[in-house]
Amino acid sequence: MSKPIYILNGPNLNLLGTREPEIYGTSTLSDIETGLLRLSANNALVFRQTNHEGVLIDWVQESAEKGAVLILNPGAFTHTSIALHDALKACAIPIIELHLSNPEAREAFRHVNFVAPIAQGRIAGFGAYGYELALKAAQRLILQEG
Ligand code: DQA
Repeated sequence: MSKPIYILNGPNLNLLGTREPEIYGTSTLSDIETGLLRLSANNALVFRQTNHEGVLIDWVQESAEKGAVLILNPGAFTHTSIALHDALKACAIPIIELHLSNPEAREAFRHVNFVAPIAQGRIAGFGAYGYELALKAAQRLILQEG
């Protein structure tokens, strides 16, 4: 059986739909997951969210072992977590960094990024649609590898 695509979401993304909708939109994380399942074709998806840095790191390590591609919206850990950076560095599968907003166009503290140097590519600024774009990119990577 082929390996799943991991889609991991970091802190506060459980609040999508009500959290700063002018920035993050009105779709909930559950809406996003449902939309992705419709587009997943032959690819199994592992879709998760946590507010805890250590849990996210455990899941990154799991994705490296069991997954084909990692799509990661690290939330604010993008800008703070050297531990996440190190976990991603140890991850041999392709990593797609994903953000609903465009952090580069926001506050200066969001311009610090510990994830981008390790990611294969990055999707940011397209709201919930970015998840669909990331899934398409992951599916393309899997086809290229297979
Ligand atoms: C985010 C951007 C981060 O700067 C922020 O801390 C988030 C969400 C995004 O999806 O736009 O929590 O990752």
